[in-house]
Amino acid sequence: MKLSRLVALFLLASLTAMPTLEAVEKQSTAEYRARRVALSAALHEGVAVLFAGEEPVLDFMAYRQDADFYYLTGWNEPGAALLVVGPITEKGREAPYREILFLPTRDLRTEKYTGAKLDALSPGVARSTGVDEVQDMTTFPVVLNKLIASNRRIARSLWTQPGVKQAEALVGFTAATLGVDAPLTRDVTTLTMPLREVKDAGEVELLKKASAASIAAQRVMMQSIKPGITERVIAGKMTESWYEQGCERPSYAPIVGSGVNATTLHYSDNARTMEEGDIVVVDAACEYSMYASDITRTVPVNGHFSARQREIYDIVLGAQKAAFDSFVAGKSKINDVYRKDSDSLDNAAYNYINTHGKNLHGEALGKYWLHGLGHMVGIDVHDPAEYPALLKPGMVFTIEPGVYIPEEKIGVRIECVFLVGADGKLIDLTAALPHTADEVEAAMHAK
Ligand code: GLY
Ligand code: MN
Repeated sequence: MKLSRLVALFLLASLTAMPTLEAVEKQSTAEYRARRVALSAALHEGVAVLFAGEEPVLDFMAYRQDADFYYLTGWNEPGAALLVVGPITEKGREAPYREILFLPTRDLRTEKYTGAKLDALSPGVARSTGVDEVQDMTTFPVVLNKLIASNRRIARSLWTQPGVKQAEALVGFTAATLGVDAPLTRDVTTLTMPLREVKDAGEVELLKKASAASIAAQRVMMQSIKPGITERVIAGKMTESWYEQGCERPSYAPIVGSGVNATTLHYSDNARTMEEGDIVVVDAACEYSMYASDITRTVPVNGHFSARQREIYDIVLGAQKAAFDSFVAGKSKINDVYRKDSDSLDNAAYNYINTHGKNLHGEALGKYWLHGLGHMVGIDVHDPAEYPALLKPGMVFTIEPGVYIPEEKIGVRIECVFLVGADGKLIDLTAALPHTADEVEAAMHAK
């Protein structure tokens, strides 16, 4: 056999033996690194220690990476850890920024179940992970020990995820090896939260893809609903659509609530058979490449809203529009459940609901809306924020008013996802989906 043929065969064999890692669409390694550098600036010359999400005890159950770990690394495997060392700028003590990804030692037997993994010895691992240094997990205690031994102040600025037992064990072990009390750790999610609140362009693209796939599935729902079909079959048809479009999973348990179930906010049994004359709340959306969408539409099971259903629908849509119209970037806030803040969009929506329409006893409808007006979306469907949250360019959030009247078996929720554009204007990421009652009916009848 010619040498060149042998080389080609060898290359082919080594390529096919390489672990496949790209189950989801990633951003560039430079973007994840920029987030770690931004985090390092907030560490007060300390260190951040983050662990990857734990594998489920039953390894055939689905795995989802810890959201902060994913945000900082784009790394989607269990068993890893990240160390970020903040730069020291003090004169005479200067030290540079440093970052290390620790990967577990490969377990060839486990890989029979999980598939092949990368480890710190895999060729080109630093390039493919995009982290400056990659080391074996066994070195983590040694590295941390040396860091703190060389600068004891670090022990006062040790940032970790709260309640993560690997971090607690590592910190406890480090303290024991240094002969000191366990350092008090600080909550690193308080530093990642403000970073995660403002999405970069790549994140917005992924959120748009999650919303586009969720919109397509909502359209499938509108075309499929009819008397006699079960709520679960509708959830199933939407799930099929998400998978067809390359999504990994639903963002949350799909809510398909018909009849009186439409008035249960997070109903997800999806067990009822829909009947003529019902209204159905469908709060169901998917994740695309670890980014979630969150969309709700309410539709009449027979394709035509009754006069009363339409009246309530129009009030809920009017409340959403009132919130949209009152929006001012840098001033408006979202998720003010008790409506204590005059700048909250919740107030605008509530005031609309409470001054439009009546219940069967002639009373205002405000008391039939029970939840906050919306929340941030991102890697988590309820992305972290301190509420009520001030809304600024780059933020992505829902506006989802609802009116739920059990005695009339009418529940209506309309939920859209909005991006605050660079110019401060709101962009509706669900614009391509029907909003008005007429548009919903037309979509249900479209051939
Ligand atoms: N879509 C569920 C929720 O936002 O609570
Ligand atoms: Mn929501």
